[in-house]
Amino acid sequence: EDIEDPKAPAVRPPLDVAFIGPPGSGKGTQARRFADKFGVCHVDMGSMLRSAAARNEQFKASINQGRLIADDPVCELVAQQLDRPECDPGILLDGFPRTSGQAAKLDQMLSERRRSLSAVVQFDIPDDVATDRITGRLHHPSSGRVYHHSFQPPRVPGRDDATGESLTKRPDDFPDVMPRRLAAYRDLIGPVLQRYSQAGLLKRVDASKPADSVWSTLQSLFKSG
Ligand code: AP5
Ligand code: MG
Repeated sequence: EDIEDPKAPAVRPPLDVAFIGPPGSGKGTQARRFADKFGVCHVDMGSMLRSAAARNEQFKASINQGRLIADDPVCELVAQQLDRPECDPGILLDGFPRTSGQAAKLDQMLSERRRSLSAVVQFDIPDDVATDRITGRLHHPSSGRVYHHSFQPPRVPGRDDATGESLTKRPDDFPDVMPRRLAAYRDLIGPVLQRYSQAGLLKRVDASKPADSVWSTLQSLFKSG
C-alpha cells in the first residue's frame, strides 16, 4: 500500500531547462556548471550530434558546414535522453530547441512524460564577440570540454586539464563557416523565443560578460525561481 511518510524529504519536480543562444555564446561553458550545481543531466546537442555523425555522412556534412540537422532525427535523440533514468531529476538542453518545430515537439514530449519546462534561458551576444570566441576555441572531443586560447586557456598549452590529451579545433570553428552558423541560428530562432516569452518562461542573460559574471546572473535567476 502507498502510505506517504510525513518525514520523507519533499520530492522536487524535475528541473527541465533549455539554453538557447548563438554559437559561441557560452551555452556549453555555463551548462556544465549549471548541471553540476543543480543536479540535472546536461544534454549537449552538438556533442550528441557529432557522435551520431560518426555513423551518418549527412549529419557530418551539415555540422561541418554550419547547417542544422532535420527536426525529426534531432527530436528522436532528445526523446531518448528524456527517457534515461539519469535525467529523471531534470534535463538541461544545451542548444535545443532551435526551430519552432523542435519547440512544439519538445513541449509535447515533455507533456507526454508529465513534465514541462521550468525556464528557457536566452544567451544574448553580438555576432563579433561570438565570432572571436569561436575562432579561439579549443575542444576536447571525447569529453566535450572547451577552452579558449586567451579567455580560458588550458593549464598546459594544447592539452586537456583532466586527461592531458590533445585539444583540437572543431571542424566548424573556422571564420568561413561562422557566418552560416550565425545565420542558421538567427533565421529560425525568432518564433522559438516568442513562444517561450508568451509562456512566461524566457529569461535573458547578457552572455558577452566574463564567464564568472554570467554564472552569477544565472544562479540568481534560478535562486529566485
Ligand atoms: P553546437 O555544438 O551546439 O554548436 P553551437 O550552437 O554553434 O554552439 P557552440 O557549442 O559552438 O557554442 P557555445 O554556446 O556552447 O559556447 P562555448 O561554451 O563552447 O552545434 C553544432 C552543430 O550541430 C550545429 O551547427 C548544427 O549543425 C547541429 N545542431 C546542434 N543543435 C541542433 C539542433 N537543435 N537542431 C539541429 N541541428 C543542431 O564557448 C565558446 C568559446 O568561448 C569557448 O572557447 C569558451 O572557452 C569561451 N567562452 C565561453 N564563455 C565565455 C565568456 N563569458 N567570456 C569569454 N569567453 C567565453
Ligand atoms: Mg556548445
